[in-house]
Amino acid sequence: MTKTPVGRKLGQRVKKGKLKASSRRWLERHINDPYVQRAKLEGYRARAAFKLLEIDEKHQILKGARRIIDLGAAPGSWSQIAAKVTSSTEDDIRVAAIDFLEMAQIPGVKFLELDFLDPTAPDKLMAAVGGTPDVVLSDMAAPTTGHKKTDHIRTMHLCEVAAYFAVEVLAEGGHFLAKTFQGGTEHDLLAMLKQNFRQVIHIKPASSRQESVEMFLLAKGFKGRKAGNDDEADHAEDDAPEVSG
Ligand SMILES: C[S@@+](CC[C@H](N)C(=O)[O-])C[C@H]1O[C@@H](n2cnc3c(N)ncnc32)[C@H](O)[C@@H]1O
Repeated sequence: MTKTPVGRKLGQRVKKGKLKASSRRWLERHINDPYVQRAKLEGYRARAAFKLLEIDEKHQILKGARRIIDLGAAPGSWSQIAAKVTSSTEDDIRVAAIDFLEMAQIPGVKFLELDFLDPTAPDKLMAAVGGTPDVVLSDMAAPTTGHKKTDHIRTMHLCEVAAYFAVEVLAEGGHFLAKTFQGGTEHDLLAMLKQNFRQVIHIKPASSRQESVEMFLLAKGFKGRKAGNDDEADHAEDDAPEVSG
């Protein structure tokens, strides 16, 4: 049995008892997950922190960001990172976050407990972040229904709405990162992103569970809301995005 830096042993089993087999398997996977243990050790609210940190290490999307919007933020590990990189404080808020679930307060993060699909959400987020954001993050995943295709379509819809929001609000040169699913990003959405950003790639970070179909869509270098992007759209549709590990 391997010991982790927090002193917890990996390879632990949960005793057969009252738990259903599927719940026991989930619990075993959770307590034996090195990223869960690392998140505890480093003070992050979720293992998801390492997906963002890993993507940032390779693609440098957070460096120099002054304002960040975090969509689907609870329990808050991406917001913790966003507050740190923007040096956001309660007196000078530079991070706005939204989730329909409750989230415990993070200093320097203005949190909206609201559905991002609510028509008032975009304006409220912009008022909360206090200026033009350099980065829009979305880790939103629709609540699972047990019907894979429905879950897939709902999460892809969230990704799409987030992408259109990003091109409405981002600063020139800004970046958009969103959760998507393997093989799932719609052709029209990719074309729109390629028209508006200098680089569009799919990423599967090592910290994203290998058995999960989750991937991330990264659109880097927003070209801005000036006229003239239209004629590039025809060419943008031709090439599939590069996939990065
Ligand atoms: C994977 S979790 C996010 C984890 C987060 N990035 C972190 O680091 O702690 C996905 C979140 O998206 C939220 N979500 C899903 N659909 C949403 C919507 N329509 N509006 C707001 N939040 C949503 C869920 O409630 C959930 O908390």
